Amino acid sequence: MSERAFYVTTPIYYVSGNPHIGHAYTTIAADTMSRAARCARPAAYFLTGTDEHGQKIAENARAAGLEPQVFVDSLIPRWKALLDAYEIANDDFIRTTEGRHERAVQRAFETLRERGDIYPGKYEGWYCTNDETFWPESKLVDGRCPNPECRREVKWLSEDDWFFRLSAYNQRLLEHFERNPHWVRPQRVYNEMMAILQSGLEDISITRATLSWGIPVPGGEGVIYVWFDALLNYITAIGWGSDDPAQRALFERIWPADAQLIGKEIARFHTIIWPAVLWGLGLAAPESVIANGWITFNDEKMSKSKGNVVDPFEIAQRFTPDAVRYFLLREAPFGGDFNFSEEAVMRRYQADLGNDLGNLLNRSLSMLERYCEGRVPAPVDAGGLPVTGLAERVAAQVPACAFRDALEEIWQLVTALNKLIDESKPWEMKKRGDDEAVRGVMFRLCEGLRWLAVLLHPFMPVKTVEMWRQLGLSGTPEQAWSSALRWGGFPVGTRVNKGEPLFPRLEAALENA
Ligand code: MSP
Repeated sequence: MSERAFYVTTPIYYVSGNPHIGHAYTTIAADTMSRAARCARPAAYFLTGTDEHGQKIAENARAAGLEPQVFVDSLIPRWKALLDAYEIANDDFIRTTEGRHERAVQRAFETLRERGDIYPGKYEGWYCTNDETFWPESKLVDGRCPNPECRREVKWLSEDDWFFRLSAYNQRLLEHFERNPHWVRPQRVYNEMMAILQSGLEDISITRATLSWGIPVPGGEGVIYVWFDALLNYITAIGWGSDDPAQRALFERIWPADAQLIGKEIARFHTIIWPAVLWGLGLAAPESVIANGWITFNDEKMSKSKGNVVDPFEIAQRFTPDAVRYFLLREAPFGGDFNFSEEAVMRRYQADLGNDLGNLLNRSLSMLERYCEGRVPAPVDAGGLPVTGLAERVAAQVPACAFRDALEEIWQLVTALNKLIDESKPWEMKKRGDDEAVRGVMFRLCEGLRWLAVLLHPFMPVKTVEMWRQLGLSGTPEQAWSSALRWGGFPVGTRVNKGEPLFPRLEAALENA
């Protein structure tokens, strides 16, 4: 087990409008991963933030009649509120308009220029403002942006810019991919990136001479290209290029990142350009980049520009943040696309959460009150419950973004505990006067529920605290798994506090939808 903190990041989100459920998705996944890392490892560090430069934001600000800085400042509260709405426990929030980021980006630019990785040249080519991406003529589709989700008009640019010598890293990237076949996941994305590397890389323009909204090019004209600026957030936020020794020490302690979570559409930036920039700065590439699929709405990618978005605030309010977190991580394997519908959330809410988990807690505590005066009896063995190796399996699945597999593993314990009640029928044991057998079942149920609260805490940080409280346990379910998840740990004689159902039935109108 490494002593280094497990460093997790999300993409930084464009504040060109309000957040939607797709943005919440990547953040929830990263939050779950970092919460699990805090329990399974010595420490974790979790960064998220906002991408505030670029032409698209400048244009949206103009359309709103505001200065770009005023425009982004006005949207930030909503993006931060999203974190509160979903119980996100990030360690830091970086905005690319902050001084700490701007200074460090300029420092990175100067370092690469001194080393010869950045050189002046003439840029002539097509630019898609929506995707903030340059495209060669050969890639355009009917003269438009080749991204199938975009297909907007591209603009012809001709200007004196600075270039990053990406082509010089082509061979090293190929070798890196070959030596680390799992560093980019899922496999499909790895293969796509490998194909790009095999077809050969060209140098990229990383400044925009004619723009003024962005980080000024040190000693030059215009601003630094938004993607070059944005990618660097992952190191500027943790102290690279800072004058503060404490900040720099943080960087030394946690870089390289263990898991960088992204949407699949931005894989090329994160797995080709990003490692090359890092190597140019003499730094290591991240350990893994993991791409999530898209949340779709009627089979189309949900996006601000299409306007087919689900409001993450409304949905959290309706179903509780924990139920939405659970739904998003359970519904589809990470990496695959899936449709979002209220009906699908409702199904998970009622079946998995209400019937399986919520009722299990409720039934167990009712019986404990009835048969054991509400006190947890003395430990007995696990009696065939699937707990051996469970924590270790979950601890390995979560850092690989196998959230669905991890939840399925955990649900085997939920199912086994429900089955234990149904098959052992404690009420009949009681009638027969077999009190010892009743106590044995009751201990297994309580101890199993304690394990569930601990293992589910990274996924459902609110409801598991409520479970913990109802189980009468002290502290919180955020526990070091290696010591907490040893069978038999429930303190004998603990008085439980049966409470309201964890996932009460929701209003009938919605249930019948
Ligand atoms: N600002 C860039 C990222 C820079 S990272 C150095 C950007 N921003 S974005 O706001 O357009 O999208 C950021 C991320 O939001 C996506 O990569 C993805 O993780 C998430 N999603 C946005 N829409 C989504 C869906 N419909 N479905 C799933 N995730 C989505 O790109």
